[in-house]
Amino acid sequence: MNNVSQTAPSRPHTDRPQIPVRRPGLEYPVDRARRWLHGRVTTLVAHALSPLFPAGERFFIKSVMAFADEVKDPQLRHEMRQFAAQEAVHTHEHQKYDETVDHHYPTAFLEAQTAEILDQLWERVSGTRRGRRFALAMTVALEHFTALLGEQSLEHIDIYDGVDPQFAELWTWHAAEEIEHKAVAIDVYRHIGGGELERMIVQATATGGILFAMFMNIAVCMARDGIVFQPRAWAEVLRFLFIDPGPLTKAVPHYLDAYKPGFHPWDHDNRDLIEKWEARYPRVAEARRQQRSAQ
Ligand SMILES: [Fe+2]
Ligand SMILES: [Fe+2]
Repeated sequence: MNNVSQTAPSRPHTDRPQIPVRRPGLEYPVDRARRWLHGRVTTLVAHALSPLFPAGERFFIKSVMAFADEVKDPQLRHEMRQFAAQEAVHTHEHQKYDETVDHHYPTAFLEAQTAEILDQLWERVSGTRRGRRFALAMTVALEHFTALLGEQSLEHIDIYDGVDPQFAELWTWHAAEEIEHKAVAIDVYRHIGGGELERMIVQATATGGILFAMFMNIAVCMARDGIVFQPRAWAEVLRFLFIDPGPLTKAVPHYLDAYKPGFHPWDHDNRDLIEKWEARYPRVAEARRQQRSAQ
């Protein structure tokens, strides 16, 4: 127990990818949004996830930047700003996606519900340093989850073959950036003295929360289609999530790493997936090069 309750050193693995701010400027075709991913039921998983991002990522930004005054390390301060900027662009792009999908499913409603819950939570915890540290532990937990979803998305990048490029660019760009900035929240958490036991407890509860929210959103979208009580439709959703391609099953080994004291996301080096994505989606990769040359 002593090992678990101690803090781990912040910012190991200094050889990491950059965290550039890309602006893909996507516009989504309304008429193709309903089922852009090879079928209605699998597309519902994307529709259910997207409304969680705008409020979720605003919460992540607030919880990380709440400790800006306590972080003196210039590299970590730089990464915090880049993290916040990347997440702000994700929020913006997913709001556009949700507005487009809202012609078919109640994504604006789902987005507002998530915002209400997370805004209330932030109001309750942000008044004390301990509360803000708890919020940061939540962000650490959910960043681990989203980085693993991003990894799975790029591991199975072939699922985007033949889909409208705007949708493929949104989901693969977001996946790549979740990998790029996967360590920022945990580095800040350790820098400010966050403990391992608290991090692990919050990891477990936040994982339960995000899975519950995801399945609730899937059910709401299925209800709109009148298929929420159809076992075959649920079997298709579960097959997609757990079997083929099965991102939730395949992510389990790396997910469990978070329960090892001293765990760090870059213990698992998956930078090759970012390079694979850049080669496959050069338009967004070009935005990255323009930004680099402008610096
Ligand atoms: Fe994000
Ligand atoms: Fe993130």
